[in-house]
Amino acid sequence: MNLLDRILHKWLFRSLANQLLITYLLVITIALLAVSLWALVAIRKESLTDLQNTLEVEAVNLGLEIDNDLVLDSAQARKRIQSAVERRASKLGVAIVVVDKDGRLLSDSSPPLAGKNLSNEQEINEALAGVISNSTRSEPVSNTNWLYVAYPVRSMGETTGVIRVGVALTEIERRLQRDLIVFLEIIFATGLVTVLISLWLATRVNRPVKEMSALAKQISISGDFSAFLPVSRKDEIGELCLSFNQMIGRLREQERMRQEFIANASHELKTPTMAIGSVVEALQAGAAEDPKLRGQFLQSLERLADRLTSLIQDLLDISKLDSGAEASDQEAVSIAQLVSDAVEQVRGSADKKGVRLVFRNAEGQDASETEALPGAEVRVLGNFLQLLRAVTNILTNAINYTPAGGLVAVQAFTTTEAKVLVKISDTGVGIEPADLPHIFERFYRADKARTRETGGTGLGLAITREIIARHHGTVAVDSIVGKGSTFTIQLPVS
Ligand SMILES: Nc1ncnc2c1ncn2[C@@H]1O[C@H](COP(=O)(O)OP(=O)(O)OP(=O)(O)O)[C@@H](O)[C@H]1O
Ligand SMILES: [Mg+2]
Repeated sequence: MNLLDRILHKWLFRSLANQLLITYLLVITIALLAVSLWALVAIRKESLTDLQNTLEVEAVNLGLEIDNDLVLDSAQARKRIQSAVERRASKLGVAIVVVDKDGRLLSDSSPPLAGKNLSNEQEINEALAGVISNSTRSEPVSNTNWLYVAYPVRSMGETTGVIRVGVALTEIERRLQRDLIVFLEIIFATGLVTVLISLWLATRVNRPVKEMSALAKQISISGDFSAFLPVSRKDEIGELCLSFNQMIGRLREQERMRQEFIANASHELKTPTMAIGSVVEALQAGAAEDPKLRGQFLQSLERLADRLTSLIQDLLDISKLDSGAEASDQEAVSIAQLVSDAVEQVRGSADKKGVRLVFRNAEGQDASETEALPGAEVRVLGNFLQLLRAVTNILTNAINYTPAGGLVAVQAFTTTEAKVLVKISDTGVGIEPADLPHIFERFYRADKARTRETGGTGLGLAITREIIARHHGTVAVDSIVGKGSTFTIQLPVS
C-alpha cells in the first residue's frame, strides 16, 4: 500500500506524460486481452464442433458395419465386432467402445475392460435411451480432457447397443495454447509500441509545458519580461504558448506604463516644488523687505501650493481607481442633480474667465436649467462623488481651453436604448486630430506650449475615463481646431 502510494504520488501524479502512458497502456491491454479471449473461446468451440461431427460420422459408419453382430450376441459376432472396432480405432487414432443394450462393455479398442458396466457414464446412458449424445470431461487416469460421442445402434425400433467414440483433446488444447502465446506476443508488442508512441507524444506535449513553467518561474523571480516562448506549433499547446506570450507582452506594457507614470509624476511634482524653492530663496534674499514684491511672491507661493495639492489629489485618485477597489457607496444618482452640481462648481471660474455657461435641451436649443435637464427619475447606479468628479473635469477643461468671451454649453438627455448622454461643448481652441486619440492617456497634454499656461498635469481626462468605465459607460470626443470641442459621456440608465 505504502509502495503503491509512493509510486502514484512520486511517479504518476507528478507527470502528465506518465499519466498519459499508463492510460494508453491500460486501455490497449484490456482491449486486446478481451479480443484475444473472445477469439480463443470461438476457436475452441469451432474445433470441438468439427471434431464432434467427425466422431459422429465414424460412429455411424461403425454402427452400419456391426449392427447385425450386435443382435446375434455370439462369440463369433463379438470377435467380428472387436476386430472392426480395433481397425477403425487405430486408423483414426481414436478410442472406441461398444456396449450392449444393457450398458455392458462388448468391445474396447484400448486395454479391455470386458464386462464392465458403462451405463452410468452420462453420454452412454443417454445413447441407451436412444439419442446421439456427447460430453467433454477430464479423465483422471491420463489427466487429459476427452471428447466423447455416443451413438445408439438401432434395429427394428429398438436400441441394440451403443458405440462410443472418444478422442483426447490434447491436440486442440496444444493449438489453443500456441494461439494464446501468439496473442500474448501481439499484446506485448502493441504495448511496447504504445509505450514508445506515448513517450514520444508526451515529450512533445511536455517540452513546451516545461519551457512555459520555467519561463514563468524565471519571470516571477527576476520580474524581467524580455523573454518570449518559441511558438512552433498550431495545436492547443501552440495556442497556449501564444496566449502566454500575449500575457507577457501585456505585463511588459504595464510595467513600462508603471515606470513612465512614476517618471512623469516625479517630474510633475518636481516643477512646482523647485519653483517654491526659488520663491523662498528670493524672499530670503531680500524680496521680503519690499511689501509689493512680498505680496506677489506670497501669492505665487499660494498658487504653487494649490497646484501641488491638486496634483497630489489627482495622483491619489488615480491610484485608488487603479487598485480596483469598488466605490463603496453605490446609489441611484440623479443625472439632473449631478449635472446641476457640476455646473455650480465651475460657475465661479467660468465667470472669472469670462466664459458663458449655458444649458441646452436635447434639440440643441438654449433652455433654462430645469427645461434642459432630464427629470429626477433618470438615474444611474454609481458613486455620486466620483461621477461629479468625472463631469467637472470635462467642464473645467472646457472653460480652461476656451478663450474669454467663449461659450460652454451643457446638455443631458436619455436615448431610446436606456442610455443617458451628457454633452459638454465649447467654442474653444479645439484639439489637433493627432492629439485626439491620446488626450485620455495619463499625463498627456496637447500643445505643450499653450497648455502650460493653464497649469494642468494631464491627469483630468484619464481620471474621467477611468470613472466612467467603472460605471459601464463611455466618453467620446469630437473636436475642430479653432472652433471647439464636444465631449460626450454615455451612461446606462438604472
Ligand atoms: N475642451 C478642450 N479643448 C481643447 N483641448 C482640450 C480640451 N479638453 C482637453 N483638452 C486637451 O487634452 C489634454 C488633456 O486633458 P486633461 O484634462 O487630461 O489634462 P489637463 O487639463 O492638461 O490637466 P489636468 O490634469 O489638470 O486636468 C489637455 O492638456 C488639452 O490639451
Ligand atoms: Mg483638465
